[in-house]
Amino acid sequence: MKIIAAQTKAEMNGKAADIFAKHISAKPDSVLGLATGETPRELYRSLIDRYEAGELDFSRITTFNLDEYVGLAPEHDQSYHYYMHDALFDQVNLAPERCHLPNGMAPDLDAECRAYEEQIEAAGGIDLQLLGIGVNGHIAFNEPGTPFDSTTHQVQLTPSTIEVNSQYFATPEEMPTTALTMGMKTIFEARRIVLVASGAQKADILRAAFFGPVTPEVPASILQQHNDVTLVVDEAAGTYI
Ligand code: GLP
Repeated sequence: MKIIAAQTKAEMNGKAADIFAKHISAKPDSVLGLATGETPRELYRSLIDRYEAGELDFSRITTFNLDEYVGLAPEHDQSYHYYMHDALFDQVNLAPERCHLPNGMAPDLDAECRAYEEQIEAAGGIDLQLLGIGVNGHIAFNEPGTPFDSTTHQVQLTPSTIEVNSQYFATPEEMPTTALTMGMKTIFEARRIVLVASGAQKADILRAAFFGPVTPEVPASILQQHNDVTLVVDEAAGTYI
């Protein structure tokens, strides 16, 4: 595992954006795994800036997002569809048909999960996966206890995740309590992984995930066994590493 330490959240996102920019330039037809959350917003902004400066071309890039709430329309401002269009898709020359998110509105959610796995496989797998981390160690929406061999599936969100994420909804009751997420195996199979973490509230879980035992109780701990993981942290998140 490689650790890149930054002072601030902005610097952390700039360094993570450097990795993505280099990767896209070296392999313009890359398959990228993308994440939502508050942490990577500036990373996407930095990629947009580089696109606008003529330094990056997304025209042959394919993307797969980690997760989506069940039952939230794509137009809802807390849906991950909305987030991605707002944060990146609508501002660079990505081909809409090559940008994928699980469809949490699908009539048959199990079939949707299977189809998502097939689409990732058909695209040749994920070259570079971006991850954040939840305060309980979740990656994507793989909550503590999720088996390491899981593929894309429907999850029941834990009280911890509901408490953290419901603050972004107009009323907490609006937040769905289930979601679709890439599985632990799906994520682990990405050829390269970059995890970004910012703020003191992530310090304890980062220590547990990267220096504690590898266990499904701390989903991100599986990353210790991956051969190409880069952790990019700001000063507060990196306190114990
Ligand atoms: C969310 C997302 C994750 C994200 C994590 C951390 O629940 N499903 O993919 O990495 O929580 O989010 P944030 O960056 O807002 O702390």
